Parts: sequence; structure tokens; C-alpha cells
Amino acid sequence: MIVTKDERPKSRNHDFYLFHALMMLSMTMLFLPVTGTSKQNIPRLKLTYKDLLLSNSCIPFLGSSEGLDFQTTLLDEERGRLLLGAKDHIFLLSLVDINKNFKKIYWPAAKERVELCKLAGKDANTECANFIRVLQPYNKTHVYVCGTGAFHPVCGYIDLGIYKEEVMFKLDTHHLESGRLKCPFDPQQPFASVMTDEYLYSGTASDFLGKDTAFTRSLGPTHDHHYIRTDISEHHWLNGAKFIGTFPIPDTYNPDDDKIYFFFRESSQEGSTSDKTILSRVGRVCKNDVGGQRSLINKWTTFLKARLICSIPGSDGADTYFDELQDIYLLPTRDERNPVVYGVFTTTSSIFKGSAVCVYSMADIRAVFNGPYAHKESADHRWVQYDGRIPYPRPGTCPSKTYDPLIKSTRDFPDDVISFIKRHPVMYKSVYPVVGGPTFKRINVDYRLTQIVVDHVVAEDGQYDVMFLGTDVGTVLKVVSISKEKWKMEEVVLEELHIFKHSSVILNMELSLKQQQLYIGSRDGLAQLSLHRCDTYGKACADCCLARDPYCAWDGNACSRYAPTSKRRARRQDVKYGDPITQCWDIEDSISHEAADEKVIFGIEFNSTFLECIPKSQQASIKWYIQRSGDEYREELYIVQDMQYCFLN
Ligand SMILES: *[C@@H]1O[C@H](CO)[C@@H](O)[C@H](O)[C@H]1NC(C)=O
Ligand SMILES: *[C@@H]1O[C@H](CO)[C@@H](O)[C@H](O)[C@H]1NC(C)=O
Repeated sequence: MIVTKDERPKSRNHDFYLFHALMMLSMTMLFLPVTGTSKQNIPRLKLTYKDLLLSNSCIPFLGSSEGLDFQTTLLDEERGRLLLGAKDHIFLLSLVDINKNFKKIYWPAAKERVELCKLAGKDANTECANFIRVLQPYNKTHVYVCGTGAFHPVCGYIDLGIYKEEVMFKLDTHHLESGRLKCPFDPQQPFASVMTDEYLYSGTASDFLGKDTAFTRSLGPTHDHHYIRTDISEHHWLNGAKFIGTFPIPDTYNPDDDKIYFFFRESSQEGSTSDKTILSRVGRVCKNDVGGQRSLINKWTTFLKARLICSIPGSDGADTYFDELQDIYLLPTRDERNPVVYGVFTTTSSIFKGSAVCVYSMADIRAVFNGPYAHKESADHRWVQYDGRIPYPRPGTCPSKTYDPLIKSTRDFPDDVISFIKRHPVMYKSVYPVVGGPTFKRINVDYRLTQIVVDHVVAEDGQYDVMFLGTDVGTVLKVVSISKEKWKMEEVVLEELHIFKHSSVILNMELSLKQQQLYIGSRDGLAQLSLHRCDTYGKACADCCLARDPYCAWDGNACSRYAPTSKRRARRQDVKYGDPITQCWDIEDSISHEAADEKVIFGIEFNSTFLECIPKSQQASIKWYIQRSGDEYREELYIVQDMQYCFLN
């Protein structure tokens, strides 16, 4: 099957006359449908940075610059804007076009702080500056912002004015406050925060050295401050925790049960002290926790945590664990109590390099929190299942008048509840992925996954969750996991996109459903990317169908965005099997030879010319022909293809 397009530049004749010894090379792309033995895990479409720019579906932010660390974003869909926190800067961008009339605030660290930071041996460029780490909506007019302030965190308010009036964008420099326990000291450290009802929940290190880590609540309405944190005295509450994400999630219809869930990884010392490993965890606290009365004063009294497992069976029978949580994304469902939890994990091992995506349900997470507690007799003992008496109310339950009129607040908890939770913050059972193992994995590749965003897409033949996965080399993978017969899943990599010119760790991804755009932040830049570029799959029904992209369908003329509301006729799509025979059997031009995708490159004799020999579509092949000036016929070139290089013979 050959699909075609003529890309000959208009200036061809002009060039032709200018150079005598001109050599013309033309390229024919053959699209070969691969049925049955489709190459697993090879992206259907691989676009370089240049290809992406040409496709008009990716716009780099012009304010980008090396080392600016675009790692904090705040999306405001309603007003169509994005706040972006970077090194010494906060930007205000339009979601439609990030380069149109953007505004910025310059907020460097205090000079004396920069000097002290450098004296402490930190790096002047990558550490001793004000890296913005918190951008949270505070009230109708103000956004709360915190920066690392050269290892001396500072917070303040940005005035954005009232909606629909002229946009303000001003940092209130008269009311800056300490950012300790709200914002990390170290710009590189993973960190999570969320603001709800004017309270800020943060998981971070509390000091310069980053040894003590805490999950805290601060701020709040003026009449009702309840600063509260995790207990420090007990070793196993948190141990060098790196916080990845935190979210308010209601547990039942009773608002008293509302909880804050947080996801993190931490060191674990099991049994012997030498046996130190990293574990990933989910933790939770009640929103209405105000601490204990006689013990655990201003400390959480409802804190519990459980282990998140993401593993595959190894060749030797023992499981291989992806233990280091890198990112969490909650895919909303119709029920706000039950978002789907997507996690990106990497391995700790230096021998076995890999990343995986594991998916969890809130029901499974709650079941583990409702299950047995873990018990550790002393530092030398292992964790075992706690079999003793459990005090009332069950530790970890939120206080609620509707359940027990005598327990209106956590201060009313009996002493045995408080002392129990102090010693038993860990659940005995672990949370396993809904399908038992990873939904997607990448093993033995020279990059790691760092970020995830998921979009629920309605296609002609079903509903699909499309994952956008950021890597540490500046690429984004677009992946769909398709369930087949007998619970079997098929991973289909739709696209591999080079978002940034240079390989740069992707630090943040924000999804705008309204704009159908992703906003991708890295060490050196920010870019906006369309969720789909259907026309790049090709100009024929078969290409569109083979792509298996839930966003795209053949509309009779082109491969275009599929909208479930549009008239059903003539929309051809087969995400599940990608079989062009059933979808495009009656469409003639898809089997015509004349329409082959053709590209012309001019070369000068005895000089070298670069010929692309790896097709963008991994299921296509490229042929080059040589045609000398004046000649009528073309001669096929034999090219030796050695992975990335082509040699002319
Ligand atoms: C929002 O908070 C800021 C900072 O505390 C305050 O100055 C402002 O008046 C508040 N705005 C509204 C609408 O409550
Ligand atoms: C060969 O190509 C290079 C770069 O395109 C150019 O600078 C050079 O002049 C060319 N040599 C000849 C002999 O045309």
C-alpha cells in the first residue's frame, strides 16, 4: 500500500538553473500495514523538535532560557491563563497562545541570602536563587506564592485583581513571610503542596540540611489558624520523605470525613540497619484534624500511611520492584471521591534500569487503610501485623458529631487512640495496582519517565485513557493502553515527541481540556503542545486507521480530530485493532500508487547531502532515488541502514 503526497518546493526550477551539476534526490515513503506482528512499544510517530515545530502543534515559550527551571504551574481554565513559576521569575501566560502579551514579575532572592548560600558551599546558579515552588489560589483576587529564596524560603501574595477587570499582576512585597515548612530550601528537592479553604498543605524538608521532613498545614482563615505537622519524635512517621503529590479527596458524603491524601517516597530501615531501601507510599490526614489535647499537640492525630507496590515478576522468580515514585496524576471520574490514581515509578537498582506506570483505585487504597495496622515491637524487630485490641474510635477516623456527639474534634480523642496512632502510623497491607502490575513500562532504555498526565478520550469504538509521559531527556510519549480479550492489555505508543531542542528533564506537565493543550515545563524551557496532530499520520484512510490514536478518525477527506458529537456517518476509526481492511476497504486512493509521499532534496555532485532514512512512522520505509539534471529517469539508491546512520553505496 503506497500513500502519497508531493512536497516538491515551488522554487525548484530556480534552483535547478542556478546550479549546473545539480543532483536531485527524491524520496518515496512506503506505508506497509503491519498486521498481527505489530512492533511492540515502537512509537507509531516519532517527531523531532523541528518536525514538531513544522507540524504547528507545538509552540515554545519565548521567555524560555537555560536553567530557568520551569517547574511550578497554576492552571486557571476559567480565565484562560497559566501562572508559571521559575528561577527568580513568575510569568502570567495566556492558555491560547503562551507568547501573546505575557507578563512577568522579577523576584530574586535577597542579596545577603545569596551570599550566605554561596558561603555554605551551594552553587550560585543552580541553588542560590529564588526558585518558585508554590503557586496556589488563595482567594478570588490573590495567589499564594513561595520561593526557595537562596535556601531561605519566602512566601507572599500576588494580586491578580478582580475577574473581568483589567488584569493586575503584582507581588505584595510589603507582606512577605517565612516559607519554612511551606516550601523547600533546596530547589531540586521533590515537593508537593495544595491549597484548599485558604489552608496550605505542604510536604517538605523543614531545615537547611533537608534531614527533617514534615507534612504540614498552615495559613487558613484569619479567625481559624491551626498550624499542624507530622510528629518528629517517632522515627517511623516520616523518614527522609520526598513528597510527590497531595490532593484533597472526600471519603464519604459526610464533609467531616474529608481527607488530604499525599503521595511520597521515603527511606525504610527494615530489620538490620544496613538494609536501607526506598519505598513509595500513600498517606492521609483528616481535614478537620486540630491535633491532640495532652499529647500530639499541634501534630496530626489522624496520620496513616501505606505502601504502594508497582512490580513485575523477575526472571529468577523474585519480583522486580519499581520503588521510586516520580509523579502522581489523579484522573477525575464522575464520582469526586473516586479519581483513578496514576503513578510513575522508577527502579532504585543501578543494574536494572526501568520506569513503569501503575494505576490504583481509591477503593483499594481505602481498603488498606481500613485493614490491619503494622506493629514494630522495637527498633530491632520487623514490622508484623498488629493483632491486639484496637481502641475506639478506630485510629485514623475523622472526628464527626454525626458518628459520636462526644467526639466533636480530635482534641476529644481518648488517650489510648492518641498513643496508638503515635506508634502505629503504618498499615500492614500494601496497595497493589488494579491490573496487578504496571499498565506501561520502559525497561533498558537510556531515559527515565518523570511526569504523567492522563486524558479520558471518547472514540468511536470505546473510551480510552491516553497517557502523556514526560522523560528526563525532554521527550513526551503519548501512550494508550487497550484492553483486549481475557483481561489482556496492549500498550500502544502513539507518539514520541521531542518537545525541547536540547535534552532537558521534564519537570512539569499541565493539561488544559478546554484548550486541548499540554503545557510542558523543563529545566530550560516551556512549551505548549496540542494533544493531537491527526494530519501527521498521513493522507489516507489506512494511515489514520493504523495510527490507532483515539483522538483521530478518518472523516472522508482527512485524518482529523474525532468528536463524539459529530455525525456518525463516514467516521472511520479502529483504536482497538487498527485494522485498515475493515475500515478503509472501499476507499480507493489508499491503494493508489500515484499518491506516494514524496520529498525532494537537492544535492551538489561530489559533495555530501543529508538524507533522512528513518521514517517518522515506524511502520513505514523510505526509498531514495537519484535523478541527475536533464535525465528523465530515476535510479534507486541503495542505502545501508545502521540504526541511525545511512550510507550511500
Ligand atoms: C485575598 O487575600 C488578600 C491577602 O490576604 C487580601 O488582601 C484580599 O483582600 C483578599 N481578597 C478577598 C476578595 O477576600
Ligand atoms: C559543499 O557544501 C558545503 C556546505 O553546504 C559548502 O560550503 C561547499 O562550498 C560545498 N562544496 C562544493 C564543492 O560545492
